[in-house]
Amino acid sequence: MKKKKIAVLVGSLRKASLNLKVAKQLMRLAPDTLELEQVNIGNLPMYNEDLEANTPESWVAFRNTIQDADGVLFVTPEYNRTTSPAIKNAIDVASRPWGKNVWNEKPGAVMSVSMSALGGFGANHAIRQAAACLNIPMMQQPEAYIGNAHTLFDENNNLTSTETETFLKNFMVAYEQWVNRFSVA
Ligand SMILES: Cc1cc2nc3c(=O)[nH]c(=O)nc-3n(C[C@H](O)[C@H](O)[C@H](O)COP(=O)(O)O)c2cc1C
Repeated sequence: MKKKKIAVLVGSLRKASLNLKVAKQLMRLAPDTLELEQVNIGNLPMYNEDLEANTPESWVAFRNTIQDADGVLFVTPEYNRTTSPAIKNAIDVASRPWGKNVWNEKPGAVMSVSMSALGGFGANHAIRQAAACLNIPMMQQPEAYIGNAHTLFDENNNLTSTETETFLKNFMVAYEQWVNRFSVA
């Protein structure tokens, strides 16, 4: 059976990102039927409708990647109780031009990752809010707020918490089932 292509958007651009570390674990733990690939969002010019007159190549490539994906997985940090500008910009870029929203009907899931014990709840729900507008059917359960993320890895970026590993694995199994619900037979 052909694997489902899942576009993974990581909302932090920094090299040592905890979100990136968690995203890599999701890629490692995902069921075999899913092919997860991180999509670069750090190169997308800030959304400005004037640029549509001469659409930046990076926007075109990004829109095509989302269009081709069978699902979208957001891994987001929390910046001031909302999502990061990088991820919001990516959401906006692929939502336009008007009438060409490539997020439409892509089964989605969101995981927020934070050093705080709250686990980025605000960021997680900011993405859910935009997803409602963009018609991304978003997996509701399990919700995933990964708190105290700086305590979960060793110096070699290995995940040290077996509890978190089990949670991430179960999350991906649930997402696999969610994506399959939207598959055309
Ligand atoms: C501008 C800014 C605002 C932040 N606001 C929040 C916040 O509202 N809630 C929170 O839990 N952490 C907040 N943080 C801390 C981030 O969650 C923390 O830096 C986290 O490690 C970022 O994710 P990353 O490791 O993937 O880069 C903020 C960090 C920055 C840079």
